[in-house]
Amino acid sequence: MKILKIKLLTATQVSEIVALDQICVGGLWTEEAYLREINSPRSTLLALYCANDYAAKSQYEMIGMGCLWAIVEEAHITLLGIHPHYRRQGLGELLLLTLFEDAIARQLEWATLEVNVNNLPAISLYQKFGFQVAGIRKGYYQPAGEDASILWLKGLQQPEFKSNLSHWQHKLRDRLSKNHYCLN
Ligand SMILES: CC(C)(COP(=O)(O)OP(=O)(O)OC[C@H]1O[C@@H](n2cnc3c(N)ncnc32)[C@H](O)[C@@H]1OP(=O)(O)O)[C@@H](O)C(=O)NCCC(=O)NCCS
Repeated sequence: MKILKIKLLTATQVSEIVALDQICVGGLWTEEAYLREINSPRSTLLALYCANDYAAKSQYEMIGMGCLWAIVEEAHITLLGIHPHYRRQGLGELLLLTLFEDAIARQLEWATLEVNVNNLPAISLYQKFGFQVAGIRKGYYQPAGEDASILWLKGLQQPEFKSNLSHWQHKLRDRLSKNHYCLN
């Protein structure tokens, strides 16, 4: 059984997240940028850790990261990544659902993000949880000049969304346990 835990990032883990950022998203943010997120009351910066068994709990490895910015009533999801060795097991979903929980607790009304129009895994993940295309930002990703899709998800504070979230979390817990993960 592998043990998972999700924690708010602290300054002592910044070099670890910068290394993971290189692997997952090709060097999106620097150490300084991560420190700014840690120090900003408007940001939630989460790190996902995995240990191989309870005996090795001290050897947690950082395998995922997610971040949102709270801007007025909006949860802007600015970062989501899972180490390539750990993909397709529900862990990206786990981080996204945890960001939803945080957005609800912050009283935010909707979620938004930009995603490369060619990033089919991420688009498929966001669509699974109801995100819809609100527009396109032409040439958003430089230097390649690829377009970004702007995705929106409304109604975070609606009872229906909260009940869906609880249902998704239940289903995910089952899936993780079938994949031999246990959430600490
Ligand atoms: C996007 C990313 C975070 C997904 O993480 P993951 O742990 O592999 O995703 P999950 O296993 O939780 O998948 C959840 C859903 O996402 C979608 N999905 C994920 N990977 C997919 C793939 N390769 N192809 C198609 N759909 C995919 C599916 O809908 C999946 O649901 P399902 O398992 O019921 O089919 C991961 O691919 C990643 O880190 N990519 C690089 C960074 C990135 O692009 N981040 C997003 C920037 S906006």
